Amino acid sequence: MPLSNMAVRDIETVIHPYTNLARHREVGPLILNEGRGIYLYDDKGKRYLEGMAGLWCTALGYGNVEIAEAGAEALRKVSFTHAFGGKSHDGVIELSEKLKEIAPCPASKILFGTSGSEGNDMQMKLTWYMNNARGKPEKKKIISRVRAYHGVTIASASLTGLPWVHTDFDLPIKNVVHTSCPHFYRFGKDGETEEHFASRMAQDLEDLILREGPETCAAFIAEPVMGAGGVIMPPKGYFEKIQPILEKYDIRFIADEVICGFGRTGNWFGTTTMGMKPHSITMAKAITTAYFPMSAITIEEDLYQAMLDESRKLGTFGHGYTYTAHPVGCAIALKTIEIYQRDKIMEHAAKMSPLFQMRLNKLADHPMVGEARGVGLIGAIELVADKATKRSFDPKKMAGATMVNKLQDLGLIVRNIQDSVAFCPPLVITTDEIHEMFDMVEKGLDEMEAWASKENARAA
Ligand SMILES: Cc1ncc(COP(=O)(O)O)c(C=O)c1O
Repeated sequence: MPLSNMAVRDIETVIHPYTNLARHREVGPLILNEGRGIYLYDDKGKRYLEGMAGLWCTALGYGNVEIAEAGAEALRKVSFTHAFGGKSHDGVIELSEKLKEIAPCPASKILFGTSGSEGNDMQMKLTWYMNNARGKPEKKKIISRVRAYHGVTIASASLTGLPWVHTDFDLPIKNVVHTSCPHFYRFGKDGETEEHFASRMAQDLEDLILREGPETCAAFIAEPVMGAGGVIMPPKGYFEKIQPILEKYDIRFIADEVICGFGRTGNWFGTTTMGMKPHSITMAKAITTAYFPMSAITIEEDLYQAMLDESRKLGTFGHGYTYTAHPVGCAIALKTIEIYQRDKIMEHAAKMSPLFQMRLNKLADHPMVGEARGVGLIGAIELVADKATKRSFDPKKMAGATMVNKLQDLGLIVRNIQDSVAFCPPLVITTDEIHEMFDMVEKGLDEMEAWASKENARAA
């Protein structure tokens, strides 16, 4: 089909993140200008079920008039105020109180940014700042994990553990190290139980700390469920085994709740679902159900005291963005959280989860699927060439991307991470919509079976 006028203009003007820019010149964009509920509409009027909640973020779906009104009202009242030099506004005070109240870790203060990447940048910067204040200038290394996703700024991309985020960007920077990826299906050894695997992962972490020198290790960062690395569940007992090691070596534990926060795993925070006890969390995405770019990190009392000391010494806290605590973002976040509480959205997500997980797990019976994994309203399937041996498809066959394209044709938007296909619908999804979504996935898998035969894609 010839490209539309807008598609041609897109190709000539727009850089698309996480897109094969060369291929984009041939296939052009999918232009989505409208959304209602959990559905999006393209420029030709075709309807899509948004099976990824945008980028794991549109928890309440599209076209929520109450939130739009809260934003409009804030814009009319005062379109901008900032938080520099001690300036404040009611919205940021109320939102900070609310976040302290619902945070799954002891929070003394809240600091705002505008993206998850910035949130994790701040975590890294403040860990360094704290350890300088504590007279431990050598304690600076941040431990992340292979296949983690923490963002794309220079610091947060370094924390991310995916090769395509590092290669030729000259990353990671120094003081970032990665420990093993805790994906049991892929990295468990023959005969190893999930719990033994978790112990081995914990041992890998301790070995890394000892190799690097515990006196140089400052923080460990982890997503409760690894999202953009492939929706990877922590193996049984993983965080229970990790946490004493962090305590033993005085290592700050940061939970990246950018995807898991606000109901995704069936509780307000993934930290609760996974039994984690972090010192601090990073929030973003569903904090405003993606009606405004915002992130926030919790500041524990020890860190706050260190920041006070530095402020006394240096005369100021030398950090902040123009849009830290933007009044429109604060109004939207407050309204979003009000709706989460008033309409019992977390309870709804928890109630929908068994059906979602049942339909997801059923996909594991399909000959294309090696593993189906998930919790709450998040999940993924991993496509394999050989189920028995777990052999992956030749990456050149692009099985994951092929499946996503087929699902898009069927009217379902999801994302692939290599050959894993992720599902993360808005939390407001209903029983019928869950069935509609997985009916399309099953159809897509059958089409993939036909594709694999036709393309001889299973050949070793
Ligand atoms: C767990 C996690 N952390 C951080 C980020 C980065 O957030 P942003 O894209 O808003 O910078 C993401 C983005 O998907 C994420 O999934």
